[in-house]
Amino acid sequence: MPVIAFAPDAGVWLLSTPRTSYALRIDATGAPCHLGWGPALTLEEAGELVTPPGPPASSFEGRPSVGEELPVDGGPRYGPPSLQVRFADGTRAFEWQATGHRVHEPAPGSTELVLEFRDRVHPLRVALHYRVHDDSDVIERWTVLRNDGVAPVALQRADSAAWALPLRDGYRLSHVTGQWSAETRLRRDPLPFGETVLTSRRGITSHHANPWVMLDAGDASENHGQVWSAALAWSGSWRITVQRTPDGRAGFTGGAGHEGPALPLGPGEEHTTPVHAGLYSEGGFGAASRAWHAYTLAHVLPHPREIRPVLYNSWEATGFDVDEAGQRALAARAAALGVELYVMDDGWFGARRSAEAGLGDWSPAPDRFPGGLTPLVEEVHRLGMRFGLWVEPEMVSPDSDLYRTHPDWVLHFPHRTRTELRSQLVLNLARRDVADWAYGWLTRLVGDHGIDFLKWDMNRAFSEAGWPDRAEGADAVWTAYVQHLYGIIDRLRAEHPGLRIETCSGGGGRVDLGMLARTDQAWPSDNTDAADRIDIQHGYGQLYPARTMAAWVTDVPNQFTGRSVPLRFRFHVAMAGVLGIGGDLSRWSEDELAEGAALLAEYKRIRHLVQHGGLHRLRAPDDEGAAAVQYTAADRGEALLLVWRRTSRPGDPAPLLRPAGLDPAARYRDARTGAVHSATVLREYGIRPELPRGDWASAAVHLVRMP
Ligand code: DGJ
Repeated sequence: MPVIAFAPDAGVWLLSTPRTSYALRIDATGAPCHLGWGPALTLEEAGELVTPPGPPASSFEGRPSVGEELPVDGGPRYGPPSLQVRFADGTRAFEWQATGHRVHEPAPGSTELVLEFRDRVHPLRVALHYRVHDDSDVIERWTVLRNDGVAPVALQRADSAAWALPLRDGYRLSHVTGQWSAETRLRRDPLPFGETVLTSRRGITSHHANPWVMLDAGDASENHGQVWSAALAWSGSWRITVQRTPDGRAGFTGGAGHEGPALPLGPGEEHTTPVHAGLYSEGGFGAASRAWHAYTLAHVLPHPREIRPVLYNSWEATGFDVDEAGQRALAARAAALGVELYVMDDGWFGARRSAEAGLGDWSPAPDRFPGGLTPLVEEVHRLGMRFGLWVEPEMVSPDSDLYRTHPDWVLHFPHRTRTELRSQLVLNLARRDVADWAYGWLTRLVGDHGIDFLKWDMNRAFSEAGWPDRAEGADAVWTAYVQHLYGIIDRLRAEHPGLRIETCSGGGGRVDLGMLARTDQAWPSDNTDAADRIDIQHGYGQLYPARTMAAWVTDVPNQFTGRSVPLRFRFHVAMAGVLGIGGDLSRWSEDELAEGAALLAEYKRIRHLVQHGGLHRLRAPDDEGAAAVQYTAADRGEALLLVWRRTSRPGDPAPLLRPAGLDPAARYRDARTGAVHSATVLREYGIRPELPRGDWASAAVHLVRMP
């Protein structure tokens, strides 16, 4: 079946993914209109979705605010515009005129449709892009705007795409909210009538919301039902507006930027929006998550096939108190435990002895690293580990040589306070000279020292986001900053193909498909309390795969919450992602080191399932009793069950787990106990993993298909 088909008589375009269809057409006014998004249809069936518009119910009604592919500000439209332009003569309305279309194959297995338009009078071109892949139901959409005139145009809103759902009796919205140390809390509520805005105005993706939504008709569950979802590949401010209209429609529009700034588009300039990727799926929220994970591995991550190594990170052990001797001692202990990547965190450079100073002066502090970083890097390599380093390239401390030399390099407005957050200011990466400076020292640092991994941190939101020496700088900066950030990382990766990067922004402040396209893993939260982490990981995994989810075992009482839970529980929670160790190993007892080494070795035996298998959430954390997940190999030859019971009550039975997605004809052996179970019995009657008595009980069950 062709992936993108056109019925010229009906004027219908049909995009077909392996299991789904997306249909649209250009209507009599020239506007691109949505027809359908759901299970697979034939072109003929898609044609049935074309219905002649009825007369407006009254002179107060305009075009439906849900149902266009990119609703513009123009004509009788009263919903949230996806495209809002201001021409130099003051005109604000856009009028569609179709100019052509193209279908091509940008890569084997991918097909792209480009619908080309211009404004009926002004020389502004708009191209709607749709890309489908033959191994995924995700449809990637973005918009390209080009100013072919001689006068500037202001893009007051330039969303990537608008999406519409078929009519249903009710709708529900799933998304995540949070804050620092409490990111990605899953919310699932009836969609209110009117407009619901999810946004970041912080210049980063944010801890407070994440740019994805899932909608269902209120009837989907973890394993059943239709779900329409979409995620934005952008790492700056963003906005997704979800609508439920009085006449019962639901849809949403999403793109980069928040209200206020208007992106200037000069004569001859072109702007490409970030990708807004959409997915229709059946099989409930679990199937939607698995489809997003598979898509992220197949089409987003730079090295998806790699197994991420077990890392050690020094932050919780040492804070800013780092020096060569202390790092060597920790590295020796980490290597003995089985760690594969040693990461030295904040505090190694300039005058950085606290959060008060030093950002911007990126040379090793001579009092703490008298021979520079090379002796430590060599020692870590000698111990058989890769070497990773913490950097925060977008920031400067006012107390730094860099700021004393270049006070104009930060985001600021003349005559306005330069607000410090965590005693730091944001460098204006939108400036070419600042971006080149950042790339310059980073590439030298990595190249000169043989650094294998960077933890790229970003520890504050924007404020006073001005760029005084450029006309319309305060409007342009939000987009140019992110584009230059991407450019620096892309150049670094090209220059150092072995380099791997973790995205961090005080924890999970900048996790999105844009960042994951150029990093290898993410730090989801600074909160390393295993009990809290279960909830954070539950929300994180709704969209992003475990292969990207770094998770450390740290010390107790936990630095953030004061809570103490057993080492085994902490390991079992962290084993649901990319395992790391973040405790002070110099204080671990011999027993703890031995138990930790055994659990770490166990992780290495099962991590291929966690990092590349399919996730089934067997019990959500808000279920009574216990939470549990399952990771299953693509060939169903093995599965891992992880179960965590935070509190126990007398008389409660051990949680019953019903593994999903196993080979129904097979029998599976529990690798630890040797017990053999039929897949059907497991699925229908379940298994009760052996848990220690009491609170904070956990288990890992590794099931292996019998030959
Ligand atoms: C915030 C990060 O999330 C932490 O893990 C740590 O790297 C600190 N910054 C260092 O300042």
